Amino acid sequence: MLTFNALMALAIPLVPRALVQKASRRYIAGSSVGEAVARIRELNALGCTATVDVLGELVADLRQAERTADEYVEVLDALHAHGLAANVSVKPSALGLLLDEARCEQSLLRIVDAAARHGNFVRIDMEDASCTQREIDLFGRLRLRLRLRHANVGLVLQAYLQRTYRDIEPLLGPGQNLRLCKGIYVEDRRHLVDGAWQDRRAINAHFLHHVGRCFDTDTFVGIATHDAELIDSVMALARHRNIDRSRFEFQMLLGVCEPLRDRLLQAGFRVRIYVPYGKDWYGYSTRRIKENPQIAGYLVRAMLRR
Ligand code: FDA
Repeated sequence: MLTFNALMALAIPLVPRALVQKASRRYIAGSSVGEAVARIRELNALGCTATVDVLGELVADLRQAERTADEYVEVLDALHAHGLAANVSVKPSALGLLLDEARCEQSLLRIVDAAARHGNFVRIDMEDASCTQREIDLFGRLRLRLRLRHANVGLVLQAYLQRTYRDIEPLLGPGQNLRLCKGIYVEDRRHLVDGAWQDRRAINAHFLHHVGRCFDTDTFVGIATHDAELIDSVMALARHRNIDRSRFEFQMLLGVCEPLRDRLLQAGFRVRIYVPYGKDWYGYSTRRIKENPQIAGYLVRAMLRR
C-alpha cells in the first residue's frame, strides 16, 4: 500500500515551480557555472571530489546540443582554472544522441578532448533502456578513436538491467573506469532486451556481483549508491579480496544522505559527489523529490497551507 508521502510524490506536478525550486536547492548547485564552482569548492574542502552534470536531457534540436557541449567545455576550463578536484558527467541525449548519432559523437569527442587538455576525465551517464545499446556502441566507437590519443572516458552500467551481466564483460580490465548504479528510470518493457529487476533491495546481489567483477579484473569502479547495506557489503568484499582503497570510490548525489557520506569520508574512503547545475533544473528536481517521499510530503503540505 502507498504511504501518505508516496501518494504525495504523485502530486508533485501540482506543486508550484517556485516551491519545488526552493526544495531543490540542496540537490542542485545553482543555475550558473560560478555557483557550481562554489559548491564544489565546499565539497573539496570536506574531502570529497565531484562530478559535474549540466542539467538538460532530451534536446529539441542540434543547436541546443551544441550549446550543451560548449557549456561542458566551459565547465572543464573553469574546473581547471580554479584547481578543483572534479570531472564531468554527460548524458548523450543532451548532446543529441536521439537526433543525430554522428554529431553527438563529435560533440562528445570535443568534450573529451577538452578534458584531456586539462588531464581530466569524462563519465558517460547511462540513460533509459531505449538508449542502452546506443550508449554502449557510442562508448565503443569513442574508445577505438581514443586509443590513438587518450582514454579519459568511462561508462555507467545499471545493476537493475539483466543484460548488464553481458554488457560489463568487454568493459573490464586494467585502465578501465566504470560507474555502477542501481538505475533510476521507469523502464518501458518494449525497450528492454532482457528484463529489469524492480525491487530495489533485490538489485543489491547483482550490483555486488558486478563490483566483484571489477575487483577481479583491476577495473576502477565508482560505486554510485546511498544504500547503506549495499555499501557495507562492498566494504566487506573489498576487505575480503584485499582490494586497495585507491581502486574504487563511492559516489553519491548532492544533498542526499550526507551523514552516510561523512561516515565514509571519516573511515578514509574516497567519495565523489554528483553536482548538477543549470537552468534546466525542474525535471531533475522532481525526480529527486519523488525518490524522497518525505520531501514530497513536506512540499504538498506546504502548498495546501498556502
Ligand atoms: P535505493 O534506491 O535502494 O535507495 C537506498 C536508500 O538511499 C533509500 O532508502 C534512501 O534512504 C536513500 N536515498 C536514495 N535516493 C534518495 C534521495 N533522492 N533522497 C533521499 N534519500 C535517498 N542512474 C542511472 O540510471 N544512470 C546513471 O548514469 C546514474 N548516475 C548516478 C550517479 C551517481 C553519483 C548516483 C549516486 C546515482 C546515479 N544514478 C544513475 C541513480 C541511481 O541509479 C539510483 O537511482 C539512485 O542512486 C538511488 O538508488 P540507491 O542506489 O541509492 O538505492
